[in-house]
Amino acid sequence: MKALIAGVNIALTASLAAWTMAADDINAVLQNSFVAKNQATMDRLERDAVQTACSAPRGMLLDNDMLASLRAERLAAVVLPADGEYLGDWQRGAEVAGNGRGLQSSDDPAQPNGGNCYACHQLAPDKVAYGTLGPSLTGYGARGQSEAMLQYTWTKLWDTHAYNLCSHMPRFGAQGILTEQQLKDVMAYLLDPASPVNQAAE
Ligand code: HEC
Repeated sequence: MKALIAGVNIALTASLAAWTMAADDINAVLQNSFVAKNQATMDRLERDAVQTACSAPRGMLLDNDMLASLRAERLAAVVLPADGEYLGDWQRGAEVAGNGRGLQSSDDPAQPNGGNCYACHQLAPDKVAYGTLGPSLTGYGARGQSEAMLQYTWTKLWDTHAYNLCSHMPRFGAQGILTEQQLKDVMAYLLDPASPVNQAAE
């Protein structure tokens, strides 16, 4: 058994060393192949502390205290709405949720970005085109509008890493993808009982 464990350890150490070398190669390939264009500049390739931790190869042991403190940092940095109002206009929110434009080299930076929620979530049940990387949010408004629910949803949209460090969802507030008003409108789209998200399918 001991020999087996030692063998596994050697294999792991070797594969981590191989990864470290491969990571340098990968960086070089990325730097050489990414072409900066318009608003898509080379700084798109820079990873922050969360992205670096979350891009570690599968199986690499990461320090739990480091991960917990990264998550706590993200939670502490969340900015709640200045006027304490979480809910905007669900009709405008529907547009934000369905808009997949923004931040690409071919997009006009003067135009507002979209949230592209349908790329990953089902929302209004009458919309048939949606991605399934994220859970269905149809009927989300049934969770109600308690202060806790409003804060939870806002925080999830502002910076999903505050709850789930390696979440695949964009950090809409923290990265300035959506404005405070757009976030309020999307909140209403999720939570307003009149929003199509909360209507039964025809
Ligand atoms: C690139 C994919 C992606 C996009 C785009 C995306 N999400 Fe998500 N979202 C996820 C994933 C994956 C989860 C579940 C895992 C997690 O918690 O990170 C999630 C979780 C959520 C949750 C929590 C669900 C729950 O049951 O509590 C909410 C709310 C949410 N997303 C709303 C939105 C809204 C609104 C938008 C658009 C403004 C959006 N998401 C855009 C991937 C995405």
